[in-house]
Amino acid sequence: MKKFLFGALVLGFMSACNNDNLTHQNETSPDQENTVPSALRRSCPSEEIRQAMLLKNPSLKQKIADIEFSTEKFAENLKIGKVLADGTVEIPVVFNVIYNTSAQNVSDARIAEQIAVLNADYGATNSDITKIPSAFKPAAAGDVKIRFKLVATNRKQSTKTGWRSDLEQMKKASTGGIDATDVTKNMNIWVVNSILDENNQPGTLGYAYYPEHAGQWYDGLVIGYQYIGKTGASAPFNLGRTVTHEVGHYLNLPHLWGSSDAGCQTDYSNDTPTSPGPNYGNPTYPLNRVCGGVSRSQMFMNYMDYVDDKSMVMFSANQRTRMQAVVAASGPRAGLR
Ligand code: ARG
Ligand code: ZN
Ligand code: CA
Repeated sequence: MKKFLFGALVLGFMSACNNDNLTHQNETSPDQENTVPSALRRSCPSEEIRQAMLLKNPSLKQKIADIEFSTEKFAENLKIGKVLADGTVEIPVVFNVIYNTSAQNVSDARIAEQIAVLNADYGATNSDITKIPSAFKPAAAGDVKIRFKLVATNRKQSTKTGWRSDLEQMKKASTGGIDATDVTKNMNIWVVNSILDENNQPGTLGYAYYPEHAGQWYDGLVIGYQYIGKTGASAPFNLGRTVTHEVGHYLNLPHLWGSSDAGCQTDYSNDTPTSPGPNYGNPTYPLNRVCGGVSRSQMFMNYMDYVDDKSMVMFSANQRTRMQAVVAASGPRAGLR
């Protein structure tokens, strides 16, 4: 954040009013002004109006400062390549691998596969996108314009054989884990040998925090090592889609049936048919299920369902908009830009 630089800029232009200290090239000399007949003299009172409004309403100064700050940030992001020219946001990713056996110490190659899966799924260049039924093609997201870039991989051996999601010990060096790398600027992914619930029971492939937790030390994803990448991963969850799904949550997508096990709740996307609950395995299209007495064809091939990796192939257009809102300059995860 170059606040200091920008502060200097604002002060400069506030005090100089209609005198830009940096570029004097376009200024007319007093001589010229006198020789140009008044009828032909150009005038643009925008600056005078701006200054008059500022005198009347000093709070505008802060608004101007905010606009200049976000403009500077936008330009800076363009320069460092995090926001590409077409508006695509590239999220920096940090992998934190905590393993007991060497098999659990997932290779750099598998991590690279995982990043490639994310980029394909979020760019709609996944080869199995052809599985979208024609009835759902109009609702398909296409390129979500979010990409992922591996910036670091941290590794640590541990004697622990399971990690409880309610304790988050994998996220602190002081409790045997690995500290997050600047959660405001990076998406952290912890890879562990086993994820346990509060009763010490295994069962989940992974989990993630929604954007209301942006900036917290525990923000990010936790994924079982068996589900990272493809090579050597555990069927039927061996195409890297567990991370695709959890990143969906990280970017504010609920399950298709809503944020409650009750089902038939909203997922805030009108283009995903209301659903009573998860689908598993490898369902055959069409699959109709009922909510509130209405039977709807289910979009079970959406990444936010629970089907096998080979059966999930798409986000919807509404889901794309929701995720873009999260990484927008004004969004809760703007720090990732
Ligand atoms: N947390 C979810 C679970 O453990 C992730 C589901 C991911 N689905 C998948 N096909 N990889 O069930
Ligand atoms: Zn989920
Ligand atoms: Ca919906």
